[in-house]
Amino acid sequence: MAPSQIHDAPIPPAPNKQSESRFASLPIPPVDEPFTLNAEFLSDTYPQKVNLGIGVYRTESGDPWPLPVVEEAETQLHRSKNVARHEYLTIQGDGKFLNLARDLVFGFDSGIEPNGTHQQNGDHNKDKENKDRIVSIQTISGTGANRLGAEFLARSLHPRNVWIPEPTWANHLTIWDLVGVERKPYPYFDPATKAFNYDSTVQTLKTQAQKGDVVILHACAHNPTGADPSKEQWTKLASIFQQKGLIPFFDLAYQGFASGSLDEDAFAIRHFMNCTPRIEFCVAQSFSKNFGLYGQRAGALHLVTNPAESESSLPQIALANLSHLVRGEYSMAPRGGSEIVRTVLSSPDLRKKWGEDLKNMSGRIKAMRQALYDELLKLGTPGKWEHILAQIGMFSYTGLTEPQVLAIRQRHHVYMLKSGRISMSGLNPKNVSYVARAIDDVVRTVTLARKQ
Ligand SMILES: Cc1ncc(COP(=O)(O)O)c(C=O)c1O
Repeated sequence: MAPSQIHDAPIPPAPNKQSESRFASLPIPPVDEPFTLNAEFLSDTYPQKVNLGIGVYRTESGDPWPLPVVEEAETQLHRSKNVARHEYLTIQGDGKFLNLARDLVFGFDSGIEPNGTHQQNGDHNKDKENKDRIVSIQTISGTGANRLGAEFLARSLHPRNVWIPEPTWANHLTIWDLVGVERKPYPYFDPATKAFNYDSTVQTLKTQAQKGDVVILHACAHNPTGADPSKEQWTKLASIFQQKGLIPFFDLAYQGFASGSLDEDAFAIRHFMNCTPRIEFCVAQSFSKNFGLYGQRAGALHLVTNPAESESSLPQIALANLSHLVRGEYSMAPRGGSEIVRTVLSSPDLRKKWGEDLKNMSGRIKAMRQALYDELLKLGTPGKWEHILAQIGMFSYTGLTEPQVLAIRQRHHVYMLKSGRISMSGLNPKNVSYVARAIDDVVRTVTLARKQ
């Protein structure tokens, strides 16, 4: 069209919004409950409101907590004035960070013990053998590790099913849906005992899972229930994985944060690592919670392989495949958070301080479990509440029903997930009795309503 004709050109009809956009038939995806609830909480103007929805650590005064050890590492990094600090990482990520992250999960000798002393007597030969079986790649935190592992397994092994605990961290369902593997639930939680349902899990895996199926396992501090298998149960589960040829996929989002001990929280993974016959599996490792690096997105995926003697290049080929997926998706993980983790884990002094920070966080959460339990007992709130003490990690699965949860939110402005999951770190000495009274009020109302 010549420029002079522009003014005379007929005005095109307004597009019919319903039929003309290519995106007109987009489906509405499900909303993410914790983040939506958080936004609702933030817009609530009630002065006594309490947020027990989102899974992040909060101090006694309800504030976020940059770990002192993280601040110290940041200062060191800043002072070092490394001119390469804003350069690209390799596609695999920061090699030193990855080795330290791997050693933390599997309990290998990094030359530095969690208590800050140098290890003297590690089983070096066994460690070397095990290290050779593992390939590690840096990820966009735990979510990225879950996603990359799912993508890799879906493409390379084409599992028929992925068995996902019911209930679970909701993103497991999204991730495995997005990679197109059939999702099947296994009955993880027993509402009657409010604990891990070992018998039903075993029954389901034994009778319904097929060779080559993937099974999602929370390595510790199960989200949302806070109910974990015992060590004995983990040991028996490992045998079932061996017998049935199932592929474990460990999600490790709370190492050290759950019990305060890095070793205790890694028990299951280390047991599976040392099983004979050997098991091949994935570990998705997150540093969001145990370093308080939520927004930094630091994590790793570890793939444990079992190459025959003639297949020594197999781990490297697996790594090349993982790297290929990463390159096509986001090129490489970010370096800010991993540099902090690397700085802390490679210094005996900072490692020791990190151990203290972990104890501080896990200790405060345990104290809040006790405080909430004591308050409910004092009020004589109907029902049993011992499970609040027995559960571990950031969350408690209270057993409150959805109508009760909604009533607690409406009447008292206390926010929790519809499943009754509460984030223990949202509790503090100032609000715990208010929360207990809110629960008490609603539990009594519902109990009375049922009796009438
Ligand atoms: C069980 C579980 N897995 C993975 C994650 C991933 O967290 P991030 O992506 O921040 O590492 C979370 C976070 O809440 C979680 O609870």
